[in-house]
Amino acid sequence: MPQGTTNNLSGSAYGRVKPFHDAEITEVGPGTPCGEFMRRYWHPIEMSERLGERPIKLRILSEDLILFRDRSGRPGLITPRCIHRGAPMAFAKVEARGIRCPYHGWLFDTEGNCLEQPCEGKDKPAFRARCRQPWYPVEERYGLVFAFMGPPNKKPLLPQWSPFENLTPDEKIVPDAASYSVGGDETEEIIPWNWLQDWENTMDPFHVVILHSAFSGPQFNPEMAVMPDVNWHDTKLGMQYTAHRKFPDGREMDRITHVMFPSLRSVPNIQLSGGIAESMGWLVPVDDNRHRTFHITRMPLDFEGVPLVTAPILDKKWSDMTADERWMMPGDWEIQKGQGPITCHSEESLGSSDTGVAMLRRKLRTQIRLVQDGDNPTGVEFEPSVLPFDIGAGNFYRKE
Ligand code: FES
Ligand SMILES: [Fe+2]
Repeated sequence: MPQGTTNNLSGSAYGRVKPFHDAEITEVGPGTPCGEFMRRYWHPIEMSERLGERPIKLRILSEDLILFRDRSGRPGLITPRCIHRGAPMAFAKVEARGIRCPYHGWLFDTEGNCLEQPCEGKDKPAFRARCRQPWYPVEERYGLVFAFMGPPNKKPLLPQWSPFENLTPDEKIVPDAASYSVGGDETEEIIPWNWLQDWENTMDPFHVVILHSAFSGPQFNPEMAVMPDVNWHDTKLGMQYTAHRKFPDGREMDRITHVMFPSLRSVPNIQLSGGIAESMGWLVPVDDNRHRTFHITRMPLDFEGVPLVTAPILDKKWSDMTADERWMMPGDWEIQKGQGPITCHSEESLGSSDTGVAMLRRKLRTQIRLVQDGDNPTGVEFEPSVLPFDIGAGNFYRKE
């Protein structure tokens, strides 16, 4: 019997066991096994260009936070209730030295230090020092703001990745926060399901042949309809698959997609142009039932707009498609949302084509348990000479 769908030989849906999800590898709140694993890494939380006069309310890893940039240009990330009496810091205003609470005017710097308490009369440094707004470290790179929400003594280096380093003068890195894969677009930055559904989909090259080709019509390059031979491998940073395709005209190609801990992926160009992947993305859990994506893409300096990592399904935006059109041509959005806020792992029936999904879950569980045992997980780096990381994803033609 497949895992837990029925409890009788007739296969009747009646009386089947209550479905459940695998909490260890999906839930991300403070103190949860996966949440503590996630908190050992830097995560992108917003685009740098969006930090202006007004503080931004964010929810990351099931924690509500306020992101701001003071007028000296420093980004800061603090908890949303003022440490004095709980006023909402979303209504605070930024100044040269930090952010000022609207209720009684306490001023905090980007590390939560209280600099002023205007209603306290004469300055009371000892009291002021005790009034520290809880904060997390942030750093900026590639046009994104990254946060480290883990134990301060475990803070690693913010990594670099080699495809996005050593730009020539006529290149740039373009960051974006749109939710597109196939389905979704810039109208939906919060993706309403668990991050792992999205991440493990990256290690499932077979759905490309069915969902994105045979079932919905070609949503990528039509040559993706060729059934590949697939191998999955461990890598230093996570795992990858190599999908080998022989095209009818004699060309042969290896398509290598790489997923890296905790939730990164580099997916090669979907038009199948040869060479290394020019983009990389992060899946950032908002909470257990939602996530966001951030991408960076290496582009020519004169490029304008947002580089699309996926094809539009019709000659219209996904957000403008009707219910009938989405039924006719479902994409990743329709499938993954339909799996539920967190898919029910107890109702799955994994086969050999799911080797990559099973392997990714197994490897994730190993990393989570490493953290529980007091070790550093894969890809957490303290030694600058190890950076930048290589990725190695791309479309590589053996015969052109
Ligand atoms: S509640 Fe923030 S200063 Fe009083
Ligand atoms: Fe897909």
